[in-house]
Amino acid sequence: MRVSLIGVFLACTPLVLAAGLPPLERRQESTTTATPTSTTTQSASSQTPTTTTVTGSPTTTTESASSSSPSSSASQSSTSSTSSTPTSSSTPTSSSAPSSSSVSSTPSSSSTPSSSAASSTSAAPSSAPIPTPSTTPIPTVSATPAPSPTPVKKPQGGQGFKYTPTYKPQSDFDFQSLNLALHQELIELDLFRFGLAQFNATDFQNSELTPEDMSLIEFMAEQEVGHAQLIENILYPNITKACTYSYPTFPGVRDFIDFCQKLTRFGESGTIGFLAHLNAQDTAALIMNSIVTESRQQMIFRQFEGLFPMPYYFVPSITQSMHWTLLSPYISTCPTGNPTVKWTNFPTLRVVNNPYYPDIGLDNTTSPAITHNRTLVTYPGRELSLSWDAPGAQVGFNGSFTTNSTAGTPQFVAWISQLNTTYTALTNVSAANGVTNGTTVQPGGTVFDNGIAPLVNGTVYVLITDAAVAVTPYNLSQIESHIVAGPALFTAG
Ligand SMILES: *[C@@H]1O[C@H](CO)[C@@H](O)[C@H](O)[C@H]1NC(C)=O
Ligand SMILES: *[C@@H]1O[C@H](CO)[C@@H](O)[C@H](O)[C@H]1NC(C)=O
Ligand SMILES: *[C@@H]1O[C@H](CO)[C@@H](O)[C@H](O)[C@H]1NC(C)=O
Ligand SMILES: *[C@@H]1O[C@H](CO)[C@@H](O)[C@H](O)[C@H]1NC(C)=O
Ligand SMILES: *[C@@H]1O[C@H](CO)[C@@H](O)[C@H](O)[C@H]1NC(C)=O
Ligand SMILES: *[C@@H]1O[C@H](CO)[C@@H](O)[C@H](O)[C@H]1NC(C)=O
Ligand SMILES: *[C@@H]1O[C@H](CO)[C@@H](O)[C@H](O)[C@H]1NC(C)=O
Ligand SMILES: *[C@@H]1O[C@H](CO)[C@@H](O)[C@H](O)[C@H]1NC(C)=O
Ligand SMILES: *[C@@H]1O[C@H](CO)[C@@H](O)[C@H](O)[C@H]1NC(C)=O
Ligand SMILES: *[C@@H]1O[C@H](CO)[C@@H](O)[C@H](O)[C@H]1NC(C)=O
Ligand SMILES: *[C@@H]1O[C@H](CO)[C@@H](O)[C@H](O)[C@H]1NC(C)=O
Repeated sequence: MRVSLIGVFLACTPLVLAAGLPPLERRQESTTTATPTSTTTQSASSQTPTTTTVTGSPTTTTESASSSSPSSSASQSSTSSTSSTPTSSSTPTSSSAPSSSSVSSTPSSSSTPSSSAASSTSAAPSSAPIPTPSTTPIPTVSATPAPSPTPVKKPQGGQGFKYTPTYKPQSDFDFQSLNLALHQELIELDLFRFGLAQFNATDFQNSELTPEDMSLIEFMAEQEVGHAQLIENILYPNITKACTYSYPTFPGVRDFIDFCQKLTRFGESGTIGFLAHLNAQDTAALIMNSIVTESRQQMIFRQFEGLFPMPYYFVPSITQSMHWTLLSPYISTCPTGNPTVKWTNFPTLRVVNNPYYPDIGLDNTTSPAITHNRTLVTYPGRELSLSWDAPGAQVGFNGSFTTNSTAGTPQFVAWISQLNTTYTALTNVSAANGVTNGTTVQPGGTVFDNGIAPLVNGTVYVLITDAAVAVTPYNLSQIESHIVAGPALFTAG
């Protein structure tokens, strides 16, 4: 069992490292960590589906991660991340790692660098000629499960320290949460490559983005390959394969970037919303390691748009059903073998007057930058026009989901932003042909009563509810039976 746990790690970590870094950078990685060499990755147990990734040469780009032919139409699926046929190797780590007799330090940590690697790091002054990357695997030290005989002094408390992590879902809730996260990783991978295929370097240049910015988006796609691989390893053998996707029409690069900014935002909020609720807290710890990277992607897309990079103090959490409601419209078809998604689709909500880039109010003349001082995009007191559908619509991949709401009369608009869920009155409600319209007013206020952290900024969530239920991030799901429609994304700044 222990072997398979290690396999989860080893199968995941090197894949990101192998995902297309230029040789020089990859060499720098490989001299400071003990695990990026390819031979160790094949030590994943039979429980984990390693992709057929790694050849003996660390400079050889491998399988899907390096595939640079993106999809070419709006509904084209990504096939690149799903070639995860499990390998048959069940060889434990120790037998496949090269022996390394030169290391005298304790082998209990896989991150212990070999002595030769350590010395090559310190012997690399900037003026030295650029070294040629080794084409042979660098020997690493195989880790053993030997327990520490003398526990290091630490404060009483905490949880999970006596538990041997298995990194497996421990409930259907866990499985469904992680499967939702996998859907998110797969669409991000497809979307990033789709944009790079639709727009050429001249198009990006017209939005003041360079070929190096394009390479960063391609690297983000490679990160998604690694993030999908992590979740696939955890969920194996019950794995969602890539679907076909349909995106809004992107008239220009900025529209593509803006959509990326929004899609990564709800992926981020949906994931951080469930981590603390997972039965499998060992798995939550791994997903945390990938979601913080996705948060960086989200911020970079804002910077590509010329927006203020992070005009908030806290990233809001949403529930899985809110996440699925936002995500599922962009998934058109999925292969028949994919696991069922059991989250609820709430009726669709639209913000009719969402500021839209390049909207006049969004000052679309600002160029990409690390930061700009932004003027207000929207403001407290601005009237918001909303429109929503009745429950019962067929949505999601293959139209196989039906929107549902158990709420009563629509009365409020919930604003999920920062740490708060705040309500405003719903006004001017009128319905015809199964569509209901209403208005509300953007709230002011702050997260803390001492005036710190303006409440609504960045990309936030609005919903129609039948009651103003007091909820905080950890019990946000208590609002769900009161949702009439939504959420919809609202760009406040
Ligand atoms: C780039 O694509 C645009 C259309 O999006 C096209 O007009 C232009 O000719 C292309 N430029 C190059 C160099 O291929
Ligand atoms: C939102 O953040 C931007 C950038 O910091 C700032 O200019 C704007 O005043 C903020 N809006 C509110 C309502 O605080
Ligand atoms: C969804 O539709 C596609 C295309 O018609 C089909 O190949 C696929 O098997 C369907 N998936 C499900 C889950 O029915
Ligand atoms: C795979 O997921 C589906 C949907 O949650 C579930 O019904 C099924 O039992 C799972 N199968 C395995 C082998 O875990
Ligand atoms: C900015 O927005 C205006 C009004 O929507 C539009 O005419 C113009 O083309 C946009 N400029 C850019 C650079 O996107
Ligand atoms: C940017 O905004 C901050 C906060 O509103 C303000 O203090 C600062 O003077 C502004 N800086 C510039 C260069 O406009
Ligand atoms: C909505 O969900 C409730 C409770 O699960 C169920 O009784 C009802 O049939 C569902 N309505 C639709 C339209 O699916
Ligand atoms: C909506 O209702 C509010 C409050 O009753 C009112 O001030 C506003 O003018 C109305 N807006 C529209 C578009 O009717
Ligand atoms: C709702 O608003 C839409 C425009 O967003 C309009 O076409 C429709 O007629 C409105 N319906 C009602 C009942 O007011
Ligand atoms: C946000 O939530 C905090 C904690 O519940 C509360 O003190 C604060 O008043 C809320 N802010 C607004 C604008 O509702
Ligand atoms: C959610 O938790 C807060 C405390 O954090 C509590 O005040 C509120 O009543 C809870 N909401 C529900 C619906 O249980």
